[in-house]
Amino acid sequence: MVENKFRNMEETVKVPVHVSIIMDGNGRWAQQRGHERVYGHSHGVESVRACVEAAVETGVRYLSLFAFSEENWGRPESEVDTLMSLMFKAIADEIEALKKQGVRFRVLGNMERLSPKLRESIHKAEERTAPEPGKEPVLDLIVFLSYSGKWDILQAARKLAVKYASDPSGLENVDAAEFGDLLVTAGVPDPDLVIRTSGEQRISNYLLWQAAYSELLFVDTLWPDFGKDEFRAAVSEYSKRNRRYGKVK
Ligand code: FPP
Repeated sequence: MVENKFRNMEETVKVPVHVSIIMDGNGRWAQQRGHERVYGHSHGVESVRACVEAAVETGVRYLSLFAFSEENWGRPESEVDTLMSLMFKAIADEIEALKKQGVRFRVLGNMERLSPKLRESIHKAEERTAPEPGKEPVLDLIVFLSYSGKWDILQAARKLAVKYASDPSGLENVDAAEFGDLLVTAGVPDPDLVIRTSGEQRISNYLLWQAAYSELLFVDTLWPDFGKDEFRAAVSEYSKRNRRYGKVK
């Protein structure tokens, strides 16, 4: 956690290093306006843009977004197709702006389930926004796609089994750091703050391992209405929290 002065705010606040968001409420937002659910998803992309800008402005170093869960594959085919097309379009539309801002773009999840076309565009976008050797990105933007916490833990456990297949006695000494390095989030600090929009108060199989000590913030705002002001308010709220990690402070 770093002490940081908001660039455009008077107060000095503790800024979380990693903010993660469960973007929820697109469907309800659209239905409230008499539109199909997909209308909400396309407006949700504008909130993504606003939050990226707000994260850069507030000095947040990692912003991660839960865009599509493993369970979301069970939605109607037309909605899944629209979400995948939106992702493809958002990458094509936004990647140069991200690069310009010094943002490194990454996608984490079960990539095997994505279409080869989307996988290819993700790969190109990741290469395009990779920082020059020796340079730090201003922000890491991580999109979780076809991701679930249990899937991540299982794929790490499988890798662990392979690693120790010929020497199972080594398993005795496996610690949380070694296991964490097998998760798809290896090298990414655990989220300090996990926000869920739309009033739902659950973690929905998101970062089950990584959010063990995250501060949780549930806000009523539906995702398409979550903009810069809401992002800043969440960071301000975080800065008032007293994190103890199971100890006494
Ligand atoms: C949850 O709302 C939102 C999603 C499943 C998709 C989020 C995707 C985007 C905002 C679009 C693209 C993202 C990026 C990163 C470019 P919901 O459909 O569950 O809403 P509901 O709970 O009201 O039904």
